[in-house]
Amino acid sequence: MDVISVIRTKRDRGELSPEQIDWVIDAYTRGEVADEQMSALAMAILLNGMNRAEIARWTAAMIASGERMDFSALSRPTADKHSTGGVGDKITLPLAPLVAACGAAVPQLSGRGLGHTGGTLDKLEAIPGWRALLSNAEMLDVLDSTGAVICAAGDGLAPADRKLYALRDVTGTVEAIPLIASSIMSKKIAEGTGSLVLDVKVGSGAFMKTVEDARELAATMVGLGTDHGVRTVALLTDMSTPLGRTAGNALEVRESVEVLAGGGPADVVELTLALAREMLDAAGLTDADPAKALADGSAMDVWRRMISAQGGDPDAKLPVAREQHVVTAPASGVLTRLDAYGVGVAAWRLGAGRARKEDPVQAGAGVELHAKPGDAVTAGQPLLTLHTDTPEKFDYALQALADTYDLAPAGTAYEATPVVRERIA
Ligand code: URA
Repeated sequence: MDVISVIRTKRDRGELSPEQIDWVIDAYTRGEVADEQMSALAMAILLNGMNRAEIARWTAAMIASGERMDFSALSRPTADKHSTGGVGDKITLPLAPLVAACGAAVPQLSGRGLGHTGGTLDKLEAIPGWRALLSNAEMLDVLDSTGAVICAAGDGLAPADRKLYALRDVTGTVEAIPLIASSIMSKKIAEGTGSLVLDVKVGSGAFMKTVEDARELAATMVGLGTDHGVRTVALLTDMSTPLGRTAGNALEVRESVEVLAGGGPADVVELTLALAREMLDAAGLTDADPAKALADGSAMDVWRRMISAQGGDPDAKLPVAREQHVVTAPASGVLTRLDAYGVGVAAWRLGAGRARKEDPVQAGAGVELHAKPGDAVTAGQPLLTLHTDTPEKFDYALQALADTYDLAPAGTAYEATPVVRERIA
């Protein structure tokens, strides 16, 4: 087997054979295929696509590149959720303890933010003492004792994807649906969950800007999960405007705790419950009532135990940024648009996100929204509060917000986009 013939096959719109796929993934992971050769192949895949059989084999080869976890010794059924990433998407924080409170085991291997989208681990690290890095034994221990664990994926899980994802990030080849689907699903299948609910975001703040692309990605991932024996369902959910009223690490932890205390913004509660119902259903726990577990404090109890088990203090005061800047409404009217991408970029520029994987993030930085699309506002009222420890960044963040919202005359009718747009199973 030689890499040039593999690249040529895809460059000339051919179908890669199972042998070619197995060989190229293995040889790339071992360093025998060079980055520039894999870049050429990734670009050929981006331009010419892969069929279902190729995507399935590519995913299987990435799974085989590393270890597989095994949760079969747990007494509870496992349920997991993966979001394709958005702005203000803090749903994992209330969702994992909620689903655990309803009887499932929730092993949530999560990531860090890159670019304008936030990362679950960065958010939880705003809690003093909380640790994202656990050994496999520690992870199983937290999962067994509390019902839920949120932590970083170990180096041994799908190492081919780790290498390929970093390469795609710097070669303009992230946005290929076969590569995104196989990247996400190889990690989820290797992780060993019995069931999986995918939250595929669609809109300006998401990877997928159109419903058609989101649908194709969702259907591809559901097919991969099902073929590997993982009960998989996808919800297409709105990411044209940020979820909830905060984007930023500690700000989002605070909002998640409000949800666990029975309050919180309506869209965050609605999506948390919709995903919880899907996860419980996929795990075979059809009698559980997640709304009750939010209201009666049992989800909050799991949250507190889960945070403590990972070294965090659930009662600690969360970090607050040193400086604030308030953006006010220039006129009275109805807010008809508040763009997720603009808010995400502003939060990132304020210090909530990172430009390179190794950069630190500011726990207190981010954007607070005082109005959401559909709300009436009066001239001079606060629309957004910007938080940062580096006030020299305010101007740069404000540039990102320049064309982020629309105000229509008072009384203008506003039709909200549903939080959950479609379900694909
Ligand atoms: N998340 C992943 O894990 N992989 C991708 O390719 C895109 C998003």
